[in-house]
Amino acid sequence: MSTPEHLFPENFWWGSATSATQCEGASREGGRGPNVWDFWHEKEPGKFHNQVGSCEASTFYKNYKNDIALMKELGHNSFRTSISWSRLIPAGTGEVNPEAVAFYNNMIDELIKQGIEPVINLFHFDLPVPLVEKGGWESRETVEAFAEYAEKCFELFGHKVNYWFTQNEPIVPVEAGYLNVYHWPCVVDFKRAAQVAYHSILANACAIERYRKAGLDGKIGIILNLSPTYARSDSPEDQKAAHMADLFCTRAFLDPVTKGAYPRELVELLKEHDQLPAYDKADLEIIAANTIDVLGFNYYQPRRVKSRDVAPAADAPFVPENFYDFYEMPGRKMNEHRGWEIYEKGIYDTLLDLRDNYDNIEVYISENGMGVEGEKRFEVDGQIQDDYRIDFISDHLKWIHKASEEGSRVRGYHLWTFIDCWSWLNAYKNRYGFVSLDLETQERTIKKSGLWFRDVAQQNGF
Ligand code: BG6
Repeated sequence: MSTPEHLFPENFWWGSATSATQCEGASREGGRGPNVWDFWHEKEPGKFHNQVGSCEASTFYKNYKNDIALMKELGHNSFRTSISWSRLIPAGTGEVNPEAVAFYNNMIDELIKQGIEPVINLFHFDLPVPLVEKGGWESRETVEAFAEYAEKCFELFGHKVNYWFTQNEPIVPVEAGYLNVYHWPCVVDFKRAAQVAYHSILANACAIERYRKAGLDGKIGIILNLSPTYARSDSPEDQKAAHMADLFCTRAFLDPVTKGAYPRELVELLKEHDQLPAYDKADLEIIAANTIDVLGFNYYQPRRVKSRDVAPAADAPFVPENFYDFYEMPGRKMNEHRGWEIYEKGIYDTLLDLRDNYDNIEVYISENGMGVEGEKRFEVDGQIQDDYRIDFISDHLKWIHKASEEGSRVRGYHLWTFIDCWSWLNAYKNRYGFVSLDLETQERTIKKSGLWFRDVAQQNGF
């Protein structure tokens, strides 16, 4: 093999990511309690693509051994999944389910046995129903319940897991659930959204506090989906719009977890509009004292904005989009299946932002990927020829490599995802995996990109 043109730092993570609800299945087995997705699917199946819920997902609960062997075959040295809160503690608080303890122990042991670093996340949009019924993340009680759940995970698995993440993309339950109406509870209410956002950030800090108290010597962080914000033009109005979008969508999450405090400007703005969530001074101290060691950075698309053409009416409800409008850049490259722009350089711009403005925090790409509908049509001799995915990944890797050469402390790349998995409202519409899944037989078949990635991992570059 020739020396790769893009050689990555030693011990770079090569792998993929998924989440418990999206891959495990067996949602009514092994003593698992229902989570918000089970509850919502039962109520309104029509909201889900082809009415498919996560009940069986991709059967990782039963097939984890074979799936981990497959990961090994594809050169993975690391893999991220989450623990299902409602599998471990079915009522959300209190009693621990022994079958879940056995499953997660076995799964983590199997990864370690195969030389794959387990990267474990604690919350990926899957609140246990008893907590949903008590107000979900709007309630301060959920913060306490999360801290207890986190502590239990550290006690059970902390001696063998070196990398922990508290939450995946905390902005999603906020935006999708309380502003954009595509996750439960599907309401539009900024003040409630702000409360959920604040409680998620507080819960992150409380979990970190418990981790450090436990005296474990691994690292702990959070996973954020950071979309760099680009203004339509250099005009002061468009620049201001980009500044505001960045403030609401990025800095409102990134600043408290890395710097221990919210941007002053955001606090003042919410105060002025009477939109501040309820908070407690002692809690702010917990946030200040418990910042992350490592950041997971999910990257899919940039955020492009412009100034609003028409100012919001004086009595319009308070929402972030009162301060900016989204902008579709002419000629942009799109993944039409998902409706997301593809802009590879965005990953580099964010890595440099983290290098320059966030103390060059240690970071890894915890998700990046391309969902495609109807991949079967690309099958030749039983294998999906997903050259588009190979191009997508290598185009992003080039920018990650450049950022690394320029001093970013980026330490890994995980594709979303390993085996095609179930995906919230889109269920199995778009396929993201290195490995395709036959929904009838559950048969796994490696795609062309999986074999290509194995070579990249083995050479530590391409
Ligand atoms: C990320 C989430 O935002 O995007 C995943 O962490 C999700 O859970 C992935 O599956 C892809 O998005 P979607 O909606 O196409 O599945």
